[in-house]
Amino acid sequence: MRTLNDVDVAGKRVFIRVDFNVPLDRARQVTDDLRIRAVLPTVNKVLEGGGKVILASHLGRPKGKVVAEFSLGPVAAYLSGLLHRQVPLAPDCVGENIERQVNQLQDGELLLLENLRFHSGEEKNDDSFSRQLAQLADVYVNDAFAVSHRAHASVHGITRFVAVCVAGYQLEKEIEYYRQAMEKPRRPVAMVIGGAKVSTKIGVLRHLMGKVDYLLIGGAMANTFLKAQGKGVGKSLVEDDHVETAKRLLEAADNRGVQVYLPVDAVVAPGLDSTDDVREVSVDTIPANDKMLDVGSETIRVFESVLQNCATVVWNGPLGAFETPPFHRGTFALAEFLGKLDALTVVGGGDSAAAVKEARVADRVSYVSTGGGAFLEMLEGRTLPGIAALEECQKRTQGR
Ligand code: 3PG
Repeated sequence: MRTLNDVDVAGKRVFIRVDFNVPLDRARQVTDDLRIRAVLPTVNKVLEGGGKVILASHLGRPKGKVVAEFSLGPVAAYLSGLLHRQVPLAPDCVGENIERQVNQLQDGELLLLENLRFHSGEEKNDDSFSRQLAQLADVYVNDAFAVSHRAHASVHGITRFVAVCVAGYQLEKEIEYYRQAMEKPRRPVAMVIGGAKVSTKIGVLRHLMGKVDYLLIGGAMANTFLKAQGKGVGKSLVEDDHVETAKRLLEAADNRGVQVYLPVDAVVAPGLDSTDDVREVSVDTIPANDKMLDVGSETIRVFESVLQNCATVVWNGPLGAFETPPFHRGTFALAEFLGKLDALTVVGGGDSAAAVKEARVADRVSYVSTGGGAFLEMLEGRTLPGIAALEECQKRTQGR
């Protein structure tokens, strides 16, 4: 795939689709800047190359209407701080006034457009909205891996109306780490998968059967697997309609020679707020009135001994109710362990990314993906619409 390195941006209007869909607190301050920092190399490359940078993003789900709380204002302010220069925020993302504002940019200047999702055409991948966006661009750069699973106008439609479409450095990096971890991995390869529901990860689990050597399952989704093995799970969260699916997945793993590790013990309590009544028990003796809220210390030890011998580890999803101490320990222990492991360690998904950040090991794992849903869809082996659209555009315009 052609990237930013393959185009001369000098004097060009370079429209960069970024994903600045970042969390804001009540005071509308950015609380996690991973996605903003991630695109700085691309932005700086264009600015230094004498291009005019037009940044476009969504924030939240305003559903086609202007909703003040979803303005990109706080992001413009935050980015100004990171770049040590004023980042102006345009009042909209399309229209004559915006075209004028874009056309007035000098080489090496930048502008952030207002939330793309204030227009319904964005999510509808509407042709005329895509064309309006394309009017602002000589070169289109997709540096928004985290939204590349959406066939939206600024990710997909626009690529039909701009002659030069390339990948930004962040998108390139995401694809490269995925390839290293999943397509040509150094073995053994382990996937640690957690989170609440099996139902949201069936596609991933199926796809991984052909790829990994070890599958380590934690989080509430492990309960459904334990039930499939005939264990009593007390009052734990279980997806009863997926117990059969879990059984079939375990059979598939067996047939494919994938070794599956489920929790052997758990931290249990009657509920998330019953912190006085927390115990660690074997998964064979889960009390009838308790819920499994985290993996136990023996499980952590087993998981670590498996991972110790792996050359590649991918992690998605927390091992317990990590936002509510004391049920955070399993997830944090894993994060810290990955930070010390001599292996390619790739972490993806909002909760796991938050855990490595909180455990202060984000810079000690090999890579933290900016993607949530997009990361999962990659793990399902799907082609993301945004990446497919770039490839299509490049094929169509080859040689130009
Ligand atoms: C994300 O946060 O995963 C992306 O920005 C996509 O957002 P969406 O789920 O609202 O499309």
